[in-house]
Amino acid sequence: MRQILSIVFFVFAAFFFIVESKSTTGSRVLVLLDKEDDKNLYTKFFESLEGRDYILTYKTASDPSIELFSYGERVFDHFINFAQKKDKTDNITPTSLISFVNNGGNILLAISSEITENIRIFARELDIEFDERDTFVIDHFNYNISDDGKHTLLVSNNVVNNEAILSKEVIEGPPVLFRGIGHKAGTVPLLTKIMRANDTAYSYETKDGQVVDQEPLAIGNSIGLISALQARNNARVTFVGSLEFFSDRFFDSPVQKFNSSKSYPRSGNEAFVNDLTKWTLQEKGVLRVTSRSHHKEDEYEQLEVYRIKDNFIYTIGISEYVNDQWQPFNGNDVQLELIMLDPYIRVNLTALPTTKNNHARKYEAHLQLPDVYGVFTLKVNYKRPGYTYIVDTTTITIRHFRHNEYPRYISAAYPYYTGAASMGIGFLLFCFIWIVNKDAGKTAAEKKKTN
Ligand SMILES: *[C@@H]1O[C@H](CO)[C@@H](O)[C@H](O)[C@H]1NC(C)=O
Ligand SMILES: *[C@@H]1O[C@H](CO)[C@@H](O)[C@H](O)[C@H]1NC(C)=O
Ligand SMILES: *[C@@H]1O[C@H](CO)[C@@H](O)[C@H](O)[C@H]1NC(C)=O
Ligand SMILES: *[C@@H]1O[C@H](CO)[C@@H](O)[C@H](O)[C@H]1NC(C)=O
Repeated sequence: MRQILSIVFFVFAAFFFIVESKSTTGSRVLVLLDKEDDKNLYTKFFESLEGRDYILTYKTASDPSIELFSYGERVFDHFINFAQKKDKTDNITPTSLISFVNNGGNILLAISSEITENIRIFARELDIEFDERDTFVIDHFNYNISDDGKHTLLVSNNVVNNEAILSKEVIEGPPVLFRGIGHKAGTVPLLTKIMRANDTAYSYETKDGQVVDQEPLAIGNSIGLISALQARNNARVTFVGSLEFFSDRFFDSPVQKFNSSKSYPRSGNEAFVNDLTKWTLQEKGVLRVTSRSHHKEDEYEQLEVYRIKDNFIYTIGISEYVNDQWQPFNGNDVQLELIMLDPYIRVNLTALPTTKNNHARKYEAHLQLPDVYGVFTLKVNYKRPGYTYIVDTTTITIRHFRHNEYPRYISAAYPYYTGAASMGIGFLLFCFIWIVNKDAGKTAAEKKKTN
């Protein structure tokens, strides 16, 4: 019996072990390649994904069996595209990629100068415009010293300074090597430009004896090299304009910028790609709300109906996914809004200290409810680049004073009290005088009669 139990236990344990990857959204990855053999060019990249417990399914772009959906359900949690050749199959279309994102799937697209039309249309949907086929980003001042011809092998550390996406070691670490196509990212606020070209760069074809006689699509630091979009449902799409960026050759290559004496024994590509895939596959920069509560300042019970002008406390717990576990989130700019059509009150939430075993940090706000009654929404709307969005709403009702909640005697009403009292006194006085005078009158008349 005990043996059977332990076998059952191990089967369950194994099951959970396999299912649980480092990502918060799932472990099934579809990798699309031009040829099966191409896998060998990126062994370090794929090994690092497998080391993080992802289940990789390799397919070639010409495989007719590729499907992102089956009976309307997503078959994969993430999609990595390394395929560059002209699309032969119709399974990966811009429409299917869009619905993959709308369903919460994450996408990492490595794009070279052989960009396919499907990818271009998909990128355009997200407000990213890639340059023409066969163009490269060229920079005559920031190239690897080995590149003595076209100057397309860029050396760059012009990366976004956002620690939700890239760790400090990568931002300050050795520069990365990049050879590929540039793009222009639009102004959609959901877009983050992760790496840009230097001011001296431009994007053009690189034929022999090429003369630049047309205005390039983009010049200078408006050329995006790596950009990402986080959709409203928190799905992430990352565009990397270079396929070689992921190659073992670039991972292991020494780097020396032209005209610079500083040389690095290894490029920063491996660490960069590690952070970039962690972010894209939702292993970092992921927030969640763990708890929320509200009550009156001197009570501890959560009510649904409060009174106008009550002193009120709102608390929300937020945790962040860091190094494969949920930890307290350290933000100092979380705000609370009290809304009825428009925000009536917007206050900063203050972070409370946490103890060691806490997985979430509590944020608290003290406020006095407004002098308006009705149904209000308490909303925490936290959207910062690099982090998943938090939109957390609770509804409360604010009622007016009950008739017996008003104070009994108010000083402003003393004229009325005096008025009522003087009226009473006056009435008594009048009655008294009238009765006395009547008696006197009667006796006088009677006196006349008798006379
Ligand atoms: C970059 O330049 C260094 C130094 O010359 C060289 O060793 C390395 O191979 C170059 N990298 C690539 C990818 O060509
Ligand atoms: C652009 O390139 C120049 C020349 O190499 C360099 O001095 C400068 O720091 C670079 N700018 C950025 C933002 O990387
Ligand atoms: C390279 O450096 C040399 C001397 O340090 C300088 O004269 C030259 O102008 C530099 N070239 C470029 C393209 O910056
Ligand atoms: C809330 O915090 C922001 C910055 O975090 C600050 O600029 C602002 O003044 C604060 N508002 C209040 C009401 O304290």
